[in-house]
Amino acid sequence: MSERCLKLICNGEFEIVKITEDLYDAAVEDFVILFFVSLVFFFFFPLTFLFKLFQNYFSKNENLGIALNLIGCQDTRASQEKFLRLLLKDNISFAARHIPSQQLAALCVNKIEVNKIENSSHTTEAEPNVGIPKMEKIGEIIHHMTTSFDVYKEWQGNCIIELTFLSTRTEFCRRGLALHLTDFILDYGRKLKEQDSKEALDLPAHVKGQRSEALTSVFTSRFSQRIGEKLGFVTLFREEYTKFSFEGETLAEKIDPQHKYIIFVAKRL
Ligand SMILES: *[C@@H]1O[C@H](CO)[C@@H](O)[C@H](O)[C@H]1NC(C)=O
Ligand SMILES: *[C@@H]1O[C@H](CO)[C@@H](O)[C@H](O)[C@H]1NC(C)=O
Repeated sequence: MSERCLKLICNGEFEIVKITEDLYDAAVEDFVILFFVSLVFFFFFPLTFLFKLFQNYFSKNENLGIALNLIGCQDTRASQEKFLRLLLKDNISFAARHIPSQQLAALCVNKIEVNKIENSSHTTEAEPNVGIPKMEKIGEIIHHMTTSFDVYKEWQGNCIIELTFLSTRTEFCRRGLALHLTDFILDYGRKLKEQDSKEALDLPAHVKGQRSEALTSVFTSRFSQRIGEKLGFVTLFREEYTKFSFEGETLAEKIDPQHKYIIFVAKRL
């Protein structure tokens, strides 16, 4: 257990820590590889990944990544890292660290989104995936999902937390780490709503005072969808993978048939 420990989980074998930029800089090589491999999938969008036991890297089983064959896509590396750093600036991303080995076993990267129509003073940087067809396709799918339901309007809030990226290292799968982390960010989001809570005070200047009404995400696999079911997320929109195609093939043709659809989910905080 370290001084950064926010919560002990799995009988004290893992601790939840905040992923800050300095932790990212100091991270073990594996962690960096993990990010470079998987970052291509989540440019600016809420997108969830879970991975099967036998794969070496996290991202090999994320369905949109599989469908678009993004593994090993190197040309976007610099902007990927830039994007990750941008996400981490909101200071609400967490990792589960395996205490005996000090490895980061699972990650939950989140960002605060303010309704831009109501508050045009809040701006995000330009999306870095323009000009890369596969990335544009992912962007198009996620946009299709997240614009299907106006959470701000229907749930009457001005701000939401987007669970952007959720992933577990292969060797630490099936321990419930992604579930623990998702539960943790839900709890953290609730505390952010309390004025003067430690969590609210730790928000950096550009999001200071924001009170999120809900946590949203796009769950692309049955693994993440099951986490949503267990934690009481509401499905706002669902689309079958047969509905999307890229270069003449539907995504359903590329994805394991156990994952039939992609869903946009939310839970009130
Ligand atoms: C818009 O955002 C700014 C800066 O975060 C904040 O000061 C202001 O109160 C917000 N306006 C509304 C209508 O939420
Ligand atoms: C981020 O949160 C940590 C504690 O959780 C705090 O010590 C730090 O000052 C925060 N960083 C920023 C930039 O606000």
